[in-house]
Amino acid sequence: MPSAGRQFVLGVAVGLTVAFVVVSFNVLTYNPVHKAAVQSYHDDVYKHMASMSKDRVLLVNDTHMHHDDDSVARKLREQVRVLVWVMTSPSNLDKKATVVKHTWARRFNKFLFFSSEDNATFPTIGLKVPEGREHLTAKTMKGFRYIYEHHLNDADWFMKADDDTYVIVENLRYFLSSQNTSEPVYFGHHFKTIVKQGYYSGGGGYVLSKEALRRLGAKGNDSSICRQDGGAEDAELGLCMERLGVRTANSTDSMNRSRFHCFDPETHLFGGYPEWYYQYDSHGAKKGQESISDYAISFHYVPPEKMLALEFYIYHLRPYGINSGEQDLNRHEGKH
Ligand SMILES: *[C@@H]1O[C@H](CO)[C@@H](O)[C@H](O)[C@H]1NC(C)=O
Ligand SMILES: *[C@@H]1O[C@H](CO)[C@@H](O)[C@H](O)[C@H]1NC(C)=O
Ligand SMILES: *[C@@H]1O[C@H](CO)[C@@H](O)[C@H](O)[C@H]1NC(C)=O
Ligand SMILES: *[C@@H]1O[C@H](CO)[C@@H](O)[C@H](O)[C@H]1NC(C)=O
Ligand SMILES: *[C@@H]1O[C@H](CO)[C@@H](O)[C@H](O)[C@H]1NC(C)=O
Ligand SMILES: *[C@@H]1O[C@H](CO)[C@@H](O)[C@H](O)[C@H]1NC(C)=O
Repeated sequence: MPSAGRQFVLGVAVGLTVAFVVVSFNVLTYNPVHKAAVQSYHDDVYKHMASMSKDRVLLVNDTHMHHDDDSVARKLREQVRVLVWVMTSPSNLDKKATVVKHTWARRFNKFLFFSSEDNATFPTIGLKVPEGREHLTAKTMKGFRYIYEHHLNDADWFMKADDDTYVIVENLRYFLSSQNTSEPVYFGHHFKTIVKQGYYSGGGGYVLSKEALRRLGAKGNDSSICRQDGGAEDAELGLCMERLGVRTANSTDSMNRSRFHCFDPETHLFGGYPEWYYQYDSHGAKKGQESISDYAISFHYVPPEKMLALEFYIYHLRPYGINSGEQDLNRHEGKH
């Protein structure tokens, strides 16, 4: 072997050894320390949240907000009324749900938190369903039933989200402004498996038209049509909706970019999806900035401190001298 080649091999060997040492060092020592630091940071954030009084606005202070012209968003708030109900549990109230309440939820026209128990302080509405993954279907069915019975006329659209979902409500209203709430339709991050017409990820949040809620309210309690508990909540609701004649539909923007997301922004930007996602995602499991709408609506697996960071990036941080204005990103098929 010529000496340059030998040097190259030696170089690679040394490089690999160094890489191995660095990686094992990371795995064995750095990670636990890092994890502990992150955990303690989480604990601090939670403690901070818990110490806040009920109606004090945390970190995000709208009164010192910007000179942005928000007249378009304010007008849409009146024209496209959206209610959200957030599924939570007693142990998540002071950790997660409180951050949701003080950040994105308050931008909806109406928001409600559903849990297994009533809590007059938070407040939450108790659905009298035991906690646990295996009862999520019952929580969803009873949650929508409650909305149907008490709030059908309080909004035009009805969203369900989790306490680790993050929603950019202005973008949701913009998308819905191009849709017809009298149609039996619902929207979310579309999965193409299990249900013939597909169904939506539960954590990415999904939004029902008034006609969809009406059908779910009138017939969704019939156990020969819709499963009342057990199974996977999002797929079961998907089956139920299909049987009630409620359609899934495409919510990508006019540049074919996604709006609802079942993972956090970083995962959709950089990839690293779990194996199952390639079989489930209807949009080819794309990744990167070019695949995500500038008017994205939702993300999932967002822990409380990341929610506060997103609030800062989206509603506060601004590059000086750049006014973004509005883009027309809704589809206009058949409408001119
Ligand atoms: C919000 O900001 C305004 C103006 O800077 C200030 O007067 C007010 O006290 C702040 N409110 C809270 C709750 O921090
Ligand atoms: C009710 O909600 C408050 C406010 O989030 C919380 O501090 C309290 O622990 C909750 N009570 C119960 C019984 O879960
Ligand atoms: C909305 O859908 C309803 C029910 O299909 C239909 O009667 C109505 O004309 C639609 N409205 C518009 C503006 O397309
Ligand atoms: C389902 O709900 C509808 C509408 O409230 C009601 O008329 C019907 O009796 C209920 N059916 C069952 C099986 O509970
Ligand atoms: C979006 O996708 C459609 C069909 O899949 C294609 O015809 C169109 O060119 C795409 N538009 C953009 C802006 O990429
Ligand atoms: C949504 O519509 C666009 C444009 O027609 C198309 O490119 C895309 O594949 C559609 N997505 C799904 C899941 O049907």
